[in-house]
Amino acid sequence: MPQNEQMATSLLRDLAGRLRIAVVHGGNRLAENAVIYPTRNPRSEKTYEVVARDIADSLTRLGFCDVALMPEDMNLGERLRHHGTHLVWLNTGGTQGYVSVCHAPAMLELMGMPYIGHNPLNAAMLDYKHVFKHELDRLGIATPRSIVWGGGSIPESIFDDRHFQRVFMDDPGPFIVKPVSGRASQHVYLAEDHNDLPEKLQKVFAATENLVLIEEFIDGPEYTIGVCGPWIYRQQCLEHRDDPLAFSAVERVMGPDEKIFTSMDVRPIALDRIRLLDLATENITVSRLSQIAQTIYSELGLETAVRVDVRSNSEGRFFVLEANPKPDLAYPKGDKISLICAGLSLLGMEYDDLIMTLLANRLSFLLAHRRATIPHIVALLG
Ligand SMILES: Nc1ncnc2c1ncn2[C@@H]1O[C@H](COP(=O)(O)OP(=O)(O)OP(=O)(O)O)[C@@H](O)[C@H]1O
Ligand SMILES: [Mg+2]
Repeated sequence: MPQNEQMATSLLRDLAGRLRIAVVHGGNRLAENAVIYPTRNPRSEKTYEVVARDIADSLTRLGFCDVALMPEDMNLGERLRHHGTHLVWLNTGGTQGYVSVCHAPAMLELMGMPYIGHNPLNAAMLDYKHVFKHELDRLGIATPRSIVWGGGSIPESIFDDRHFQRVFMDDPGPFIVKPVSGRASQHVYLAEDHNDLPEKLQKVFAATENLVLIEEFIDGPEYTIGVCGPWIYRQQCLEHRDDPLAFSAVERVMGPDEKIFTSMDVRPIALDRIRLLDLATENITVSRLSQIAQTIYSELGLETAVRVDVRSNSEGRFFVLEANPKPDLAYPKGDKISLICAGLSLLGMEYDDLIMTLLANRLSFLLAHRRATIPHIVALLG
């Protein structure tokens, strides 16, 4: 993308008339010919098709003339070839199997198909919370103390585990027990003390058949913040900043006895569940959150947006819980709103502006750093 903002805006407009985009959502593993052997997805069976449609509709409103919607399965390559796709938008958590968030980007890398999404390594690193936490340690960003349980022995044997002894023997609890890869607070439990741990470990493992994370419980307010690249699209123009854009800093509103934020599957995220942080009176909190999010984006070499979840302890120290590789991009309807869209109005942006912002950031990255891999898009630029 040219650094000149006007040139970049007109380049994007020109491309909109020529670029064929496919928005890919999770597939149905039980559909005919979707896979060779249907297995399961320990992360979640959700296809995110509804949100993929929101993204596709937005791209159409933004002037992209050819936007297709398709599922991620073993026919993806043929579908993309048939459509003549130039660029894919990945809105999938995977269709089945382990580490499923990285399957689609890995397939697209193999096919030579550029995409809006994380590269396979970053997708997997972000989605497997214990790996991401190692990266946080490396960056000096606080994250709850934790260990991983593999489910290979009886849950009571956790007390003999040398990592458990090192990290938690002197900690009476409470603890959080959760899947290493999951979504929407599913299978996330509070274990009040050591006695409560084996049952919770067993429950998470039975539901996911995957590694289980035990974390110290951080009991203060919970925040989320979005972060993406340095380009912003608003009022029909692109603007370039020096830093990644951190936006939509919100506090999740928890009920008095709500220790774990209730799953959005049970209670959709509505305006009464979030509180937009006030830039005037909560400037310090917003700056600290922004700095954490920007450091994660820059230092981990992320190539598209994430939503960072943070919880504070009673002393006001921030701990990063996770960074969601595929933040919910549902189109706001009524008072139902996705966390990442909640603060757009503060930036003078709407939903479509965010979609264009994410696309512009990715195109800019590809043109600047992966130009040799997108000759078919470079050719469209004339
Ligand atoms: N160590 C912790 N201390 C306190 N609360 C926690 C901790 N880990 C998780 N939680 C609670 O559980 C919820 C879900 O956990 P987490 O964000 O790790 O997983 P998720 O299911 O992937 O979430 P999301 O809904 O963001 O996709 C958090 O929003 C928070 O309320
Ligand atoms: Mg979370």
